[in-house]
Amino acid sequence: MARYIGNPDEQSCEFALTVADDWQKKGLGSQLMLRLISIARDRGLLVMEGDVLAQNTRMLRLCTALGFHTLHENEDREVVIVRRQLQPDQCSG
Ligand SMILES: CC(C)(COP(=O)(O)OP(=O)(O)OC[C@H]1O[C@@H](n2cnc3c(N)ncnc32)[C@H](O)[C@@H]1OP(=O)(O)O)[C@@H](O)C(=O)NCCC(=O)NCCS
Repeated sequence: MARYIGNPDEQSCEFALTVADDWQKKGLGSQLMLRLISIARDRGLLVMEGDVLAQNTRMLRLCTALGFHTLHENEDREVVIVRRQLQPDQCSG
């Protein structure tokens, strides 16, 4: 399951991703995220972000490999925010 929900600012969105246990480690999570990024970009959104548990190293590796930056804006140190610019002409950050 991969989906995003648009934020009220109409420029950013938040993703959710889950791959059933038997189907993990086959590249599906990465492919679903790439598809999600592509759809959000085509719809003109500028930023995709998500909350990931700090201990979820697999998801953090996946996100980093797909160009997400990790941020610790949240007071809750158990949760890491991952954020990615979607449009090619955007400055990084
Ligand atoms: C995190 C999650 C979405 C990853 O999904 P996935 O389909 O397993 O992701 P991928 O297969 O693309 O990548 C996972 C690993 O498999 C490896 N892999 C990919 N294809 C492979 C293949 N053909 N053979 C062997 N390994 C492979 C990747 O290199 C990656 O390795 P790493 O963890 O050492 O970096 C999945 O583990 C999950 O649903 N977890 C529970 C829910 C969750 O945590 N969701 C995220 C909440 S923010």
